[in-house]
Amino acid sequence: MRERIIVALDLPDAASALDMAKTLQGRVTWVKVGMTLFYAEGPQVVRDLRALGFKVFVDLKLNDIPHQVRGACRILVRQGADMITVHASGGRAMLEAAADEVAAAATKFRVPKPALVAVTVLTSLDDAALAELGCERTAAEQVAALATLARDAGCDGVVCSPEEAAAMRELLGDEAYVVTPGVRPSWAEAGDQARVATPADAIEAGASHLVIGRPITGAANPVDAVRRIVEGE
Ligand code: C5P
Repeated sequence: MRERIIVALDLPDAASALDMAKTLQGRVTWVKVGMTLFYAEGPQVVRDLRALGFKVFVDLKLNDIPHQVRGACRILVRQGADMITVHASGGRAMLEAAADEVAAAATKFRVPKPALVAVTVLTSLDDAALAELGCERTAAEQVAALATLARDAGCDGVVCSPEEAAAMRELLGDEAYVVTPGVRPSWAEAGDQARVATPADAIEAGASHLVIGRPITGAANPVDAVRRIVEGE
């Protein structure tokens, strides 16, 4: 379980993110840097977290023309990102460029190849919101179609809600990354997460990695919160 937890460092600045990371050093393998922290502090925060021994999930949900996404992937690989997100809706050429560049840059900079995972449909979008965007499929159908596209274009897996994890595991096979946020231990408050699953349930459904933020970073004792999650409390 320890290697499957990704702690979302959704903290206002690098100083507090690095303090939290130091508190959790040796307790979890992964941390996540989202766009707020990345845009505030830049790539240095990724290097600093790697220097503390963490694997770093850089969650910028890239979505642009292939040339731009290729360039962004090259820079993120050079900074030492261990996992990178792209929007599957960026299309096949963009996804192929990202997959190609992640592999090429890892060779060039002599670093392990990061996992490239695709966001399918943002969980903030429902069927009505998709219809407004001109998508006639249901959200579930669109998730499956985009996950298939991402896989065929060379992505290593998807980010999805725990509710979608079983379908994604079935569709993408045993080796795929199935990364789920919306995870809440039974003792933690759900807060603004509407559809939540416990860590055990998310793993049972097929998740390979669990993104967990506030139940750990907002706990009075983050180390104890990790211990309770690892022990299945
Ligand atoms: O604090 P909490 O555990 O809710 O943090 C979950 C992390 O997962 C946050 O960084 C959030 O941006 C991300 N996320 C999410 N729900 C989604 C997609 C991403 O909570 N549907």
